[in-house]
Amino acid sequence: MKNKGQSKSLRGKDKKANSGELDNFVPLENKTILLGVAGGIAAYKACDLASALRRAGADVHVVMTPNAKEFVTQLSLTTITRNQAHCEQFGQSDNWRPEHIELAKKADLILIAPATADVIGKLANGICDDLLTTMVIASQAKVMIAPAMNPTMLAHPATQNNLETLENRFRYDIIPPEFGEVACGDIGSGKMASVESIVAAVAARLLAHGTLTGRQVMVTAGGTREPIDPVRFIGNRSSGKMGIAMADALAGRGAEVILVSTVQVNRSYQVIVVETAHDMQEVVESEFDTCDALVMTAAVADFRALRVANHKIKKTESEDLVLEFTKNPDIIDLLGRVKRPDQILIGFAAESEELLNNAAQKLKRKNLDMIVANDITVPDIGFGSDDNAVIILGADGSRENLQRMPKRAIAEHLCDVLEGMFIELEAKTPVV
Ligand code: CTP
Repeated sequence: MKNKGQSKSLRGKDKKANSGELDNFVPLENKTILLGVAGGIAAYKACDLASALRRAGADVHVVMTPNAKEFVTQLSLTTITRNQAHCEQFGQSDNWRPEHIELAKKADLILIAPATADVIGKLANGICDDLLTTMVIASQAKVMIAPAMNPTMLAHPATQNNLETLENRFRYDIIPPEFGEVACGDIGSGKMASVESIVAAVAARLLAHGTLTGRQVMVTAGGTREPIDPVRFIGNRSSGKMGIAMADALAGRGAEVILVSTVQVNRSYQVIVVETAHDMQEVVESEFDTCDALVMTAAVADFRALRVANHKIKKTESEDLVLEFTKNPDIIDLLGRVKRPDQILIGFAAESEELLNNAAQKLKRKNLDMIVANDITVPDIGFGSDDNAVIILGADGSRENLQRMPKRAIAEHLCDVLEGMFIELEAKTPVV
């Protein structure tokens, strides 16, 4: 279990947070944190934690499980956070849309501390039988959990498997428990991380979200459609989901995103809808100069009809229809030839055979910095699906396998990699 990004992103501020000087440490201003409190003895620390988060500037809203009320009162948490703590899943609400659903939507981050073996098991398996687990599943916010339990429970393969699922499949951040004497007198790993380190990890994660601020990144998504006549086109099975997930993840980290897509979506960042490979080429080429990176997830048609009929082709005209095709420009290939050393090009390769070989060749041939390859013969992933499994190949010879996971989780991982690439580029750029 690792708390990714913590040391990297806190930059100079971690010293303060870890030394307990939380009063002067206000990195969480304007952040809404949903603090989930599960029913373990460490729930008594939730008061201190809620207070520290609030002093760090966050607007803290507590959702507790019914069992948590055995250890800490709703009134304490309401008073400390200055917001009504929630617990009942089916309580009365004056509003047609209950306040806690609004909260789940607007939260910048969900932190579950303490996270018991029970709540960890439920979340890993999609069980939502109380308000807390329901809200987590109803939210798209980043989730961090601070496990706290008896060391034997923590070491149990079921708990370890569930944590593994949360971390690697759902991309939750796990704030590792500490070693020491736990409430029942046992000694081992299972003590909830200290309030100071939890606040520091939360701040690191929320600051990490701005790690692409100032970067302009263009993403292409969907499959191009090449017309045959005014009503027909040649297309492909790309749904655009991977590209849209990538654009969302980049925007979430503060990047200035331009999404060039064949699929219309409503987003706060710039979306340019195109249809053909030519349209896409025109937009991408005109925007590329100001971009720091281009992520080409789009499935661009390699060929287009040589002649597009002005009128609808009639079936009565002949028994067979023969169409002639001509090659489309390879957009990323052309940009690979002109890109500046400070620009990053990321391609995607959907392959049905010789995945590694084909992807590696495209990486080289098109002068890319990275290629993300997936095997389209594997059922239920890739085209149209919400999940994918990919291999990431870097121009530096690096290779990483990402097992099946939601496309958004893959996008978050690719953002981590992109962040690293920008840092490396900066290190290489001579200071003048
Ligand atoms: N690509 C592009 N322009 C094209 C075709 C592909 O920019 N006309 C980009 C894709 O967006 C992707 C990468 O090139 O990022 C690899 O695309 P892919 O279709 O896998 O490769 P091709 O070079 O088209 O090779 P083939 O279809 O023969 O496998």
